[in-house]
Amino acid sequence: MWGGRFAGGPAAIMQRINASIGFDRRLYAQDIRGSEAHCRMLVRQKIIGAEDGRAILDGLARIRDEIERGDFPFREELEDIHMNVEARLAELIGDAAGRLHTARSRNDQVATDFRLWVRDAIDGMEAALAALQAVLIDRAEEHAATVMPGFTHLQAAQPVTFGHHLLAYVEMIGRDRGRLVDARRRLNECPLGAAALAGTSFAIDRFATAADLAFDRPTANSLDSVSDRDFALEFLSAAAISAVHLSRLAEELVVWTSAQFRFVRLSDGFTTGSSIMPQKRNPDAAELVRAKTGRVIGDLTSLLVAMKGLPLAYSKDMQEDKEPVFEATDTMELAIAAMTGMVRDMSVETETMARAAGAGFTTATDIADWCVRALDMPFRQAHHVAGRLVRLAEDRGCGLDHLSLADMRTVEPRLTEDARAVLAVASSVASRTSFGGTAPERVRAAVAAARDRWLAETAR
Ligand code: ARG
Repeated sequence: MWGGRFAGGPAAIMQRINASIGFDRRLYAQDIRGSEAHCRMLVRQKIIGAEDGRAILDGLARIRDEIERGDFPFREELEDIHMNVEARLAELIGDAAGRLHTARSRNDQVATDFRLWVRDAIDGMEAALAALQAVLIDRAEEHAATVMPGFTHLQAAQPVTFGHHLLAYVEMIGRDRGRLVDARRRLNECPLGAAALAGTSFAIDRFATAADLAFDRPTANSLDSVSDRDFALEFLSAAAISAVHLSRLAEELVVWTSAQFRFVRLSDGFTTGSSIMPQKRNPDAAELVRAKTGRVIGDLTSLLVAMKGLPLAYSKDMQEDKEPVFEATDTMELAIAAMTGMVRDMSVETETMARAAGAGFTTATDIADWCVRALDMPFRQAHHVAGRLVRLAEDRGCGLDHLSLADMRTVEPRLTEDARAVLAVASSVASRTSFGGTAPERVRAAVAAARDRWLAETAR
């Protein structure tokens, strides 16, 4: 491609370190689409002839076909997808192929291809996250009144409803989607026509190519166009945060399926057995979702480090932008799908959850609140009363709701049967009706609101 200037060919090791065709062939569809838009614009602007333009478009269509059929002759010595396509075009249509690269450089070409690819990846990831939300919302509705212990420090804290717990993830994933949508909005400008770095002397129409490729507008500065990859970094950041969210739910599934918890049973489809211990049902998919988060965080880190300190404009370092993005995309696709399947198919052990919900004196706050309300006690003092009741129950070896009223009155003589009633788990969760709270009626309303907000046609 640069034979005019060079006498000798590259060393074998140079070819290996330089070539990106092994991975950037994944950009083929975007590369051809970008070339078609560029070619049509060159013809319209009379920069190349209509006949050459037709030959180029025919040739590009054949190349797309060859690649999709799997009989395109990829060649490492041609370095990357751009030169592989262009060289094949020359084989197919002859000299006219050489006109396609007028007013263009591989620098703006790869920036355009990659934006198109990341844009599709964003759309795919966002749709997959929406599907996960849909499953979480369905399960939340089913379990709007299922009680479980809520935890802080992984210590039983206050009873909550399982539906409420699942809806927490719907919110997290909703923000993940929001970050992707934001990134897409900033990404959606077209670098094509920035050429190598300075723009071009040809009378190109960058607005036309931008529109042809469904970008909102052309990028404003040619140097910036070919030298930044912040759109990929934003995508990877959003993916990494989302992966962290998935890892937390994965961890909860691991904990909940353990014999010590037994809150949840994963389906046979999402568990494995042990070759030596016949009783085991291992939550491998959840563990792998948890672990794969490390890859996505690594992908973000590797591109951040590759970009750090690069002078404007293009440097070959930037060729290293693709593999992290591909890996993060593939990893997230798998992780989100596995999580969606696990949540959809899991069975919920409502009785075990209910038993656990009352264990550990989780309604102690409720009796303190009752003292505040019924006896007009300052909360700090009420907290003290509740603490003494817990100690009493501990001494008796029973739950708070199994203390007799007489026993309770040794701590605070003004306690009544009413006070005992608030100690039941069901009345505890039913009382938490504040906006965003865990009461079943609130959860049902939140399910409806979540469907509207996240799953309606207009959700984007
Ligand atoms: N394969 C290259 C990349 O991915 C394409 C751009 C090459 N540009 C250059 N000036 N060598 O970054």
